Amino acid sequence: ENENLELIRASLKTCPDFPKNGITFIDILGIFSNPAAHRALIDLILTRIRKLDTKIDAVVGLEARGFIFGPQIALELQIPFLPIRKHGKLPGKLVTIDYVLEYGTDTIEMQVDILKSGAKILLVDDILATGGTLGAAQKLCAKLDYNVVETLVIIELLGLGGREKLANVDHFTTLFQYSQNDIEA
Ligand code: PRP
Ligand code: MG
Repeated sequence: ENENLELIRASLKTCPDFPKNGITFIDILGIFSNPAAHRALIDLILTRIRKLDTKIDAVVGLEARGFIFGPQIALELQIPFLPIRKHGKLPGKLVTIDYVLEYGTDTIEMQVDILKSGAKILLVDDILATGGTLGAAQKLCAKLDYNVVETLVIIELLGLGGREKLANVDHFTTLFQYSQNDIEA
């Protein structure tokens, strides 16, 4: 596992001053240019999930980057994947929630009647920053009486209060943590 961790970490390139001056961006999609690192990441995620002492009925992932990782996990676990999308993209009967962004608000939505009430959910996104997105996604699942038994991100940015916005933080898996100092180094 340690070799895999190093390979993945080396593939997570940081980009200073993107998208604007003073912000350092972690280019998580860059991992797909290296198939060995891609394989190592998916294996690491699956190892962590299989260690959890919980049955999972479905994976729920967030547009856009949660859509890249969530379905790969669901396929390996042979369970359904359900998308949460930004407003206006999904057809059918929906459940909706608004959440606060740095500037303004956004809305995310999920289709109803796909899973049974009480379904055990693994909620997946790529990065936790302020926690606004995943916090809202947890509430969205709760509206349908889905039971989010685990929330997983690949990267947690520390110092932005993200964790504090999450429900059930004892069941939060994060593979890599970066503080602003690490990023700026
Ligand atoms: C990014 C990232 C997370 C979210 C984390 O998504 O993929 O979903 O921000 O930030 P938060 O913890 O402060 O809510 P974004 O909507 O920017 O872009 P995407 O559509 O490429 O996933
Ligand atoms: Mg996102």
